[in-house]
Amino acid sequence: MTKPTFGQTILRFNSIDSTMREANARAEAGASEGTVILAGEQTAGRGRLGRSWISAPDVGLYFSLILRPRVPSAQSVVLTLAMGLGVARGIGEACGRICDIRWPNDVLLNNKKCSGILVEMSGAGNQVDHVIVGVGVNVNQASMSPELSSIATSLRIETGCEYPLETILGAVLKHSERYYGMFLERGAAAITDAFARASSYVLGRAVVVENADSHIYGTTAGLEPSGVLRLRREDGVIEPILAGSVRPA
Ligand code: BTN
Repeated sequence: MTKPTFGQTILRFNSIDSTMREANARAEAGASEGTVILAGEQTAGRGRLGRSWISAPDVGLYFSLILRPRVPSAQSVVLTLAMGLGVARGIGEACGRICDIRWPNDVLLNNKKCSGILVEMSGAGNQVDHVIVGVGVNVNQASMSPELSSIATSLRIETGCEYPLETILGAVLKHSERYYGMFLERGAAAITDAFARASSYVLGRAVVVENADSHIYGTTAGLEPSGVLRLRREDGVIEPILAGSVRPA
């Protein structure tokens, strides 16, 4: 049994602009794999696709994790799926529920998003130098804002319980490390198989994929070995989805 490295070093900031920026700076300066940058609040929390992540003081979990996988950058999508699996399993274990995962890595409770993950990779050429995995979990919010309440939720809203943020952090790090190990030791297929079993979005789901300048309607048709989502468009053509946000149609 190897010693866990995720969270062995945790650097906590009461308030910070974004843990992504701080983690990237620490990684550039040589911080070791598994280092966690944790924040009580973020004043400029970032989400996928240029969105912001609301990070009010002490009600949610906001952290970034530094990874140094020795893999080609083409494996970035599978690594993203592995992190989604780890976060979903961690949250599920901590609150006694089963979470769904919406490709690539939105974690859902009762069909609403309770956690989002932002993966940013740095490297030269085809090789990864470091990866920053940013995780936001809505934990103890008593309600979501009116514009978000139909699509987003918190663990407290769904279960009626409040949780120590350290409990959620510990469970999420434990399971993320487990799936990261699975990715490094058993390869991409182990992760895409596990993801397909854990996510109701991989196969036969009517969805719309939104990008900055397009909306594509179709039915999900499994994952490619690289982790890319296959979408059967309404004209029958299979389209690989590399990015964008997937929503029920
Ligand atoms: C998403 O859009 O779903 C991803 C959200 C990621 C938010 C987390 S909170 C901690 C880390 N710091 C950031 O600025 N963003 C990520």
